[in-house]
Amino acid sequence: MFDTSNFQDKHNIPTQFIWPDDEKPCSQRPPELDVAPIDLGEFLSGDPLAVSNATRLVNEACRKHGFFSVMNHSVDSKLLTKAQEAMDFFFGRPISQKQKAQRKHGDHCGYASGFVGRFTTKLPWKETLSFQYSADDTSLNSVENYIVNVMGDEFHEFGRVYQDYCKAMNDLSLRIMELLGMSLGVGRSYFREFFEGNDSIMRLNYYPSCQKPDLTLGTGPHCDPTSLTILHQDHVGGLEVFVDQEWYSISPNPDAFVVNIGDTFMALSNGKYKSCLHRAVVNSLTARKSLAFFLCPRGDKVVRPPNSLVELGSPRVYPDFTWPLLLEFTQKHYRADKKTLDSFTMWLNERMGE
Ligand code: OGA
Ligand code: NI
Repeated sequence: MFDTSNFQDKHNIPTQFIWPDDEKPCSQRPPELDVAPIDLGEFLSGDPLAVSNATRLVNEACRKHGFFSVMNHSVDSKLLTKAQEAMDFFFGRPISQKQKAQRKHGDHCGYASGFVGRFTTKLPWKETLSFQYSADDTSLNSVENYIVNVMGDEFHEFGRVYQDYCKAMNDLSLRIMELLGMSLGVGRSYFREFFEGNDSIMRLNYYPSCQKPDLTLGTGPHCDPTSLTILHQDHVGGLEVFVDQEWYSISPNPDAFVVNIGDTFMALSNGKYKSCLHRAVVNSLTARKSLAFFLCPRGDKVVRPPNSLVELGSPRVYPDFTWPLLLEFTQKHYRADKKTLDSFTMWLNERMGE
């Protein structure tokens, strides 16, 4: 087991963290990806020009790579600051305390660390704390309750911050679903309704500084298997996206969220909107934090594109599935990468043929 603090300052990093040459970070910071900034306030005002502008920008971005950013999102900036700051409260604890929330094998909630990871090669230079957020939460399955149960009473306030943050992300994601529905021509409420009662995942990403940032990665290249990711980066930066065979940077903007399509939404859109490969690099000077909310459908919802997206010349690309099955696939059988959805489709087809 590694404790980050033991070797953060060392100049030789353990070999498990060294990535193969063809996956190592670029020697220079890649160029900036031109992500469409969407003014959500204007979109929600209903002004026809603003609506058509926002839907056009989202449509272009999602067909091309699946990344855009939202501003004027009406998430309380004090809540955002608190959610960023509270990460230090948790990740600054001794490893023995963080391990009270240790994620178990095959599970997706809890504390995980590349430094105590489930893989033996290509370890990510990060620590994470993940938890379930249910839009139909009760006090029993609330984020706050989960946190206090695993971490103890001292974590009440911490739990409440992320309970509030998840609620804000749930609202925001449903508004973005209105935008996505309109941009795909299926109407404002189609996806919003599909994701009502969602069972989502919140993840706090903490990337310690690293003396050999050119040898390792904070998060390896992957597509998010979930439906929609709403990411808030702190001021440090490190998110990169693979578009047209090249890596691009997405610089942080504290007033905006980076939004990306995940594999499940790619399937829901019948492949029209892209779930795109991305990764996070680390640096030698500053620890970096990001907050990721992964919107996921309720477990019993069948992921199947609306009829209007399945036409002559655009037949079904992916079979029906439910989110818990894809989650299980990525937890037990497959390390998420750029081919997760294709491999999952093959796996499903094999199972159905059995
Ligand atoms: C993720 C992710 C990128 C980042 O958590 O899935 O891609 O910048 N994070 O932290
Ligand atoms: Ni991701």
